Amino acid sequence: MCGIIGYTGERDAAPLLLDGLQRLEYRGYDSAGIALLDGGEIHVAKGAGKLSTLRAALEGAYPAGAAGIGHTRWATHGKPTTDNAHPHLDCAGDVVVIHNGIVENYLALRNELSAHHLRSETDTEVLPHLIERYLDEGDDLLTALRRTIARIDGAHAIVVMSRREPGTLFAARCGNAGGVVVGYGEGEMFVSSDLTALLPETQRVAFLSDGEIACVAASGVRYVSFDGAPIEKQPQVVPFDAVSAAKGAFKHFMLKEIMEQPQCIMDTLRGRAIFDPPGVDLEDVAISDDVLRSVERVMLIGMGTSMHAAMVGRTYFERIACIPSEVDNSSEFRYRDALVDGRTLVVSVAQSGETVDTLEAMSDAGRHGAPQLTVCNTPGAQTTRVADGFVLTRCGPEVAVASTKTLVASITALYLLAIRVGMARGALDAERAGELINDLATIPNLVGDVLKLDPEIEKIAHRLFRHDDFLFLARGLQYPMAMEGALKLKEVSYIHAEGYPAGEMKHGPIALIDRNMPIVAIAVDDGTREKMLSNIEQVRARDGIVVGIVSKGDTEIASKCEYALEMPRTTPLLYPLLTAIPMQLLSYHIALRRGCDVDQPRNLAKTVTVE
Ligand code: M6R
Repeated sequence: MCGIIGYTGERDAAPLLLDGLQRLEYRGYDSAGIALLDGGEIHVAKGAGKLSTLRAALEGAYPAGAAGIGHTRWATHGKPTTDNAHPHLDCAGDVVVIHNGIVENYLALRNELSAHHLRSETDTEVLPHLIERYLDEGDDLLTALRRTIARIDGAHAIVVMSRREPGTLFAARCGNAGGVVVGYGEGEMFVSSDLTALLPETQRVAFLSDGEIACVAASGVRYVSFDGAPIEKQPQVVPFDAVSAAKGAFKHFMLKEIMEQPQCIMDTLRGRAIFDPPGVDLEDVAISDDVLRSVERVMLIGMGTSMHAAMVGRTYFERIACIPSEVDNSSEFRYRDALVDGRTLVVSVAQSGETVDTLEAMSDAGRHGAPQLTVCNTPGAQTTRVADGFVLTRCGPEVAVASTKTLVASITALYLLAIRVGMARGALDAERAGELINDLATIPNLVGDVLKLDPEIEKIAHRLFRHDDFLFLARGLQYPMAMEGALKLKEVSYIHAEGYPAGEMKHGPIALIDRNMPIVAIAVDDGTREKMLSNIEQVRARDGIVVGIVSKGDTEIASKCEYALEMPRTTPLLYPLLTAIPMQLLSYHIALRRGCDVDQPRNLAKTVTVE
C-alpha cells in the first residue's frame, strides 16, 4: 500500500523525491522518508506522520545528492514511528531499501540475522541486512538482491540503492504487492509505485511484471528476471498528463473528481459507443465472438467501490446480454473455491489495477481456464496485463482516496461491455443496442444537472453532520449505490453507515430507526419506486429522518421526505450513474463540517496491496 519513488540523474534529487511523495501520499501517510547518495555516503531523513512534517524539518536544508529514493508508509508491521519509517539501512550504511508488501517470514529471518543491528520493528528491515550478508559473501548488488528475493515469502515491490554502485537504483516486483513503474527522462530516470507520481516528469514509462528487476541508471535501464536472464522491455507513452492530476481551483481532489464526472463518462464512451450502425467498438477487448458465445455465465469481481460497480455490471450482463451473472468481492471469491472454468467469463473491476485481492482472484480464475476481461483506470496496470482483454476508463488519475469518478466510468464501461457481449451472443439486436447507446449518450448532460444540486446538498449536510449513524436503503440496481453511499460516508467522515436492501429493513435494521437516525432512501422511478415508498412510510412512522433521492417531479415521495433531491429522469438501467452523485457530495460536505481530512482519510490507502 506504500508509495515508492526513486530518481537518478543530474538534478538535486531531494526536492524531486519530496514532490513525488506528495503525489503518492494517498498511498499511505503514517510516515515518510528519503535517502540520498552523495559523495559516497547515504543520508537518510525520515519522520513519523504526514509528509508535511518531514518537509518542514528539511526546509532550507535538503540533503544533497543526484540519486535517491523516497517512501510514504501505510503501517503493517510496527507502529508509525520514525524508527519504523522507510528507508531502512544495513549495518554498514552501504545499502538502503524501500519496500511495499509484507515479508511473511520476517521473524525467522530476523532470528537468522541476530548478529546484525536491526533498529526497527518492521518486516522490511531484514531486506538491507540480507543484501548486506550476500554482499559480504562477495556478491555484486544485483546478485545479492536476487538471492534476497529468493529468501523472502510474500509479495513485494522493492527499491534498493547502494554506495557500492552509486547512481544505479535496483527495483524489483515480486507478486502482487503493487506496481513498479520505470520513468524515462533525458539523462535521468525514475522509478515509482504509481504512474501518477511520474507524470510531471515523464509520460514515457515501462511497467515491471512479477519476477522482474529493473537496474536503473541515469543513462538508461536494463531489465533482468529473478534468475538473472536479460529481458527486453520497451517504454510506452501513457495518455495521462500532469495537468489532469492537479487540484486546480478546487479545495480538495475529491470535489474536483466529483465535478469531473460528466467528462469522464463522455470520455469513456467516446469512439466506443457507435451510433450508426449501432454497436460498440472496444479496442482492447481481444476476446473473439466465438468465445463470448461459448461462455455460459459471467462472474464479476472487485473490491470496495469497484465491487459496487461490478454489482451494477451484474445486472447489465443479465438484462442486456441475457447471460446468468454473479458478483463477489475478489477476496471472498478467492477463498470460496468458486466453480469457474472455460465457460465462465470473469470480469474484474479495479481502478488501480493493482489491488492484491483482485489480482490473486484473477490468477485463480486464470488457473481454471476462465477467459477474463477487466475494467481499469490505469493504463499498463497489472490487471490489464493478466486479463485477455480490457476496457480502460478514461478518468485521468484519481487522487482522492475515496473513489468517485472511477465508479461512474466503470459502470459506463460495464454497460458498453454488456452491449458488446449481448450483440456477440445474439441476445441484442441492432435496434435495441441503438436504444441503449442513445440512452447512455444523454447521461453526461444529466450528471451535469445533478451536480447543480451541490448547494442544496451542502445545506442538508450542514443539518445532518452531527449524527453518528446513517442508513442507506434501496432496491434492485440501486442497492449497490446504497452500499456505495454508505462506504463514502464511512470513509471520509468516519460516521457509521450501512447500506441495506430496503426489503431487508423489516428483518432487523428497523430496530435502529428513531428520530436520531437519518435514512438516505433511493426511490427513483426504476420499477422499485412503489416498494421504496412503502419503506419510506415505515421509516417515517418511526420518526426516522428521510433524505429521499427521487425522480424529477415525484412530489408524492418528495412530500414524505424531510429532504428530497430530484434526479433527472432516465432509463432504469442508467439511474445508478445519477444517484451515486448526491451521496458523494453529501459525504464530502459532511466530512468537511466534521473537520475530516477528506482526501486522505485516516487508516486508508488508495491502492490496497496487502491482504
Ligand atoms: O483500485 P481498486 O479499484 O481495485 O480499489 C478497490 C478499493 O480499494 C477501492 O474501490 C476503495 O473501496 C475506494 N477507494 C473507496 O472509495
